[in-house]
Amino acid sequence: MIAIGSDHAGYSLKKEVIAWLNENNIPFAEFGCLNGESVDYPLVAEEVCSRITNGGAELGILICGTGIGISMAANKVKGIRAALCTDSYMAKYTRLHNDANVLCMGGRVIGAGVAAEIVETFLNTDFEGGRHQRRVDQITSLENN
Ligand code: RB5
Repeated sequence: MIAIGSDHAGYSLKKEVIAWLNENNIPFAEFGCLNGESVDYPLVAEEVCSRITNGGAELGILICGTGIGISMAANKVKGIRAALCTDSYMAKYTRLHNDANVLCMGGRVIGAGVAAEIVETFLNTDFEGGRHQRRVDQITSLENN
C-alpha cells in the first residue's frame, strides 16, 4: 500500500502519478490536497508519514512545488527517511543505500514521464542492507538523540 499526498503546487503531478498507479494496479491511499486548494505542505507530510509509521502503508509519495519543503517536513517525522528525487538514478540508489520510505518530487520541477520512471524505480528497488544497514542505523541514532 502506497500513501500519496501533495500540496496545491504538487496537485497536478500527484494526479498524473495516481493515474500511473491505477494503470499498474498498485493500491494507494490519497491524502490532501484533494482539489487543488492551497494547503500547507507540512500538514500533508504529517498525514502521509503517519500512515507509514502506523503501519497502514509501506511507502509514501509526497509532492510539493520543488519537493524540498515537503521532504524537509517528512524527515522530521521519526522513522521516516524521505528522499527528494529528480531522476530514476536517485530513486534507485536511495532505495538501495538509504532504505528511503518516502519519495518526494517537485511538481514544478519535473514532468509526468520522468515522475513515472522515478516512481516505478522507487517501488521496484529493494534495500541492499549490508554496510548500508549500519549507516541507516546511524541515521536512526541521530533521530533518537
Ligand atoms: C508552495 O507555493 C511552495 O512553496 C511549496 O509547494 C514548496 O515548493 C515548498 O517547498
